[in-house]
Order: sequence, then C-alpha cells, then structure tokens
Amino acid sequence: MSSLKWIETKNYDELSEIASDLFEQQIKQKPTSVIGLATGSTPIGLYNRLVERNKAGILTFKDVTTFNLDEYVGIDPNNKASYHYFMNEHLIDHIDIKKENTYIPEGHINDLEKACHVYEEQIQKSGGIDLQVLGIGVNGHIGFNEPGTSFDSLTHIVELTQSTIEANQKYFDKPEDMPKSAITMGIKTILQARKIILLISGESKQDAFSRLRTGEITEDFPASSLHLHPDVTVIYSGVK
Ligand code: F6R
Repeated sequence: MSSLKWIETKNYDELSEIASDLFEQQIKQKPTSVIGLATGSTPIGLYNRLVERNKAGILTFKDVTTFNLDEYVGIDPNNKASYHYFMNEHLIDHIDIKKENTYIPEGHINDLEKACHVYEEQIQKSGGIDLQVLGIGVNGHIGFNEPGTSFDSLTHIVELTQSTIEANQKYFDKPEDMPKSAITMGIKTILQARKIILLISGESKQDAFSRLRTGEITEDFPASSLHLHPDVTVIYSGVK
C-alpha cells in the first residue's frame, strides 16, 4: 500500500524552501549524512537555498557525502552540459563540502561496466544514502531509468528515450551533441535510500503527476516504484 506523503505548494519558491528545510533538518540531525542529488531544472531553487544557508553559517556540509543519480556517457566532466559541471556550478563549488566526498557516476571512462560496480560499492561503503532527492521525467523516469527498467536494477548504462532526448537537448550547444546513453543509479539503488523527496514542478509534468497519483505500480512508469518505499515525500507546484 502506497504511503507517499504529498505536499502541495503555492509556487516553485515555496517548493524549494520546503525541500531545503527538509535537507537542513536531515543534515542537522546527522552531520555525516549521505545525500543523493539530482540535476535538471527542478532542484536548482533548492540548491540556491542550500548555498545561501551555507554562506549564512546556518548549515554546514563539512561532513556530508553526496552521490549524484546520473551522468551522460562519453561526455567530459568539463563540458558545460555534463552533470559534473552542473553540480559544481549550482552547489558543490559554493558550499563547504569536501570535494572528495562528492560522487558522480563516471560516464567518461572506458570501462563503464566497472564504473557501475564501483559506484554501487562506493554507496555501500558510505553506509548508504540517508536522503535522496529526485525529479521526474515527463515519461515518469527517475534518474535516467526509462520506462521498462526493472525495479531490481542497480547502477547501469541506459539508452535514453526520444522523450528524454527532446527534453534535454536544450542544454547542448548543438542538439545533435546530446549523448544517447547515460549511466544511472538503478531503481533498486534509489529505493535503498532511507528517505526520498520527489520534486515535481510545472505543467509539463501534469501527466506524470496524475499517473503517480493513481497509485498504479508498473515498470512502464518508473516513478511508480516509489509506492513501494516507506518514506517518500512528494513536494509539488504547478500541477493538480
Ligand atoms: C537528473 C535526473 C532526471 C531529472 C528529470 C527531471 O539527475 O535524474 O530524472 O530529475 O529528468 O528533469 P527536470 O528537473 O529538468 O525537469
């Protein structure tokens, strides 16, 4: 039986504020927290607030470890469209976290299978993820787990769907430069997090939101796996 907790917010600012309050609570309760991070447009407001709180001395990340959900395959970490670059730009370079405690899947190395295993091992070694933040794709993906992905999947390589390519091409100077595959935590990896926050913002996510609301659980709709987790909070704005 699904136990998703739903928080409706007035707008994107309120969504970001509530999400950052939950982050602050988690990190204050456990300064050595392991946090799972997402990229994309949705968590930017959250990251801005975390940077502000860190600069204001309200919140420290000095003992925090982070693991990102995903990265494109075959993209240099210095490429502006890479998720490495995104995380540095929006969060990591602006807070007091130790760089060596920030993990992002290595999509640019030759042995990608090994990169997947190593990532899982690193998560286990850290003690597992305490709090994972997620966005949702218009097709219901979480991480880059596209429709049809097994709920038993660990970190793996995926072929991106046309829907995801169309949604993310805008981040590349030339749309054809967008990689067609990615490395992503699997659905099982995500569900192993102790707590999950899913952020949903904006009309383009209406269909995915409505489908999640039905409570139906199917591998055709990856976000529906969240109904199997005991501690998921969905914070949303601009959908009903
Ligand atoms: C990003 C990720 C994706 C995004 C999703 C929504 O690391 O894993 O699942 O969360 O594609 O992206 P935005 O927020 O750009 O709509």
